[in-house]
Amino acid sequence: MFVEDVFNEKGILLYSANTLIDGYHEIENLRNQGVSSLYINTTKGTDIADYKIEITTPEMLGELTEIGIEVLADYEKKLEQAFKVRQKTISTVRNMLSDARSGRMFSLQTIVKTVEDMVEMVLEEPDVYLRLGQIKEHCQSTYLHSINVSVLMTGFAAALGYSKAKIVEAGISGILHDIGKVKIPESLLKKDGALTRQEMDLIRQHPAMGIEIIKASSQKIPESSLKVIMQHHERINGSGYPRRLKSKQIDEMAIICTLADVYDSLTSGTDYRKPCLPQEALALIFQGSDEEYPRELVEHFTKMLGIYPVGSFVKLATGEMGIVIKINRTSLLTPQVMVLFDNNGERVQIPYVKNLAVSDREFDEKIECSLDPLIYQINPSEFVSNKM
Ligand SMILES: [Fe+2]
Ligand SMILES: [Fe+2]
Repeated sequence: MFVEDVFNEKGILLYSANTLIDGYHEIENLRNQGVSSLYINTTKGTDIADYKIEITTPEMLGELTEIGIEVLADYEKKLEQAFKVRQKTISTVRNMLSDARSGRMFSLQTIVKTVEDMVEMVLEEPDVYLRLGQIKEHCQSTYLHSINVSVLMTGFAAALGYSKAKIVEAGISGILHDIGKVKIPESLLKKDGALTRQEMDLIRQHPAMGIEIIKASSQKIPESSLKVIMQHHERINGSGYPRRLKSKQIDEMAIICTLADVYDSLTSGTDYRKPCLPQEALALIFQGSDEEYPRELVEHFTKMLGIYPVGSFVKLATGEMGIVIKINRTSLLTPQVMVLFDNNGERVQIPYVKNLAVSDREFDEKIECSLDPLIYQINPSEFVSNKM
């Protein structure tokens, strides 16, 4: 028989039209995917008289779709809340950095409050929140980088099973890790190409400058945050700076920051360097396992972000192309993808979501490869924020 409008229990469209079902096992497959009803196109196919199957009336389908829309609407609502918290964080961090730049007193209390709001969200809905860590701007400034690192660090600390207090510390540390950069001229931070010896030495002073700023502000900040500020450019093989520390000498929170920092820097472009694709960045980090970063933490980090992290632009074996908007933690190769281009490469008018994990079309629903979104004039940030 040929079936149409097949939705799973979450209201996600699995198959739209003209899908051939040619065996009982396929019906069982659909049931296992949470499909309780569907349309059979009786003008096609052969009737299966002895198999009892519910046929949905248009009214029932309406209800089912409503439920699906509600589930998606709830997800979007959470995303919107998280987005608002992020906006508030942006203005707080921006003010803090400009205060620090001009030597004014800044309030750590406001940062702590903002981070606590973020942590509530990361604990409640980690995927929604991680989506916000993927919002990039071309040539992003220190404050956006600090927020993204903070988001990634809270998500990572939560994934590692840290206590809530420690996750808040991770968030604070992420925001403060590069505070020393306010003492370095912007032109130098954005300079392309080879730096002179003196320029390099100056940049390498930002961890120590950060500690000085914190001391001068007489704010009490967590011990782990001080270590993060000082050690986030150290590497376990001793190749980092400023102190060339080795393995156990580096605090775990600082390594968490390092991974988030490297990932965010690689995936953000500058005027002179194209951003790495999310999975290219993960691959580069993975190459540094055992040498620069502890392998175990790299593996946890990759697992948290997924093989195809949120924000990746991918091509499915069907030919459709879209943005990964949600990771399936039990199966990293089959995330949820918002399809933006159909199998002819045409931009679809209304983007739709495919949950690859619940599809039994194992072959053609797989991700074939990652693509460069810039070539297709796509800005993944638009699709991972709430502006869909
Ligand atoms: Fe840094
Ligand atoms: Fe950084």
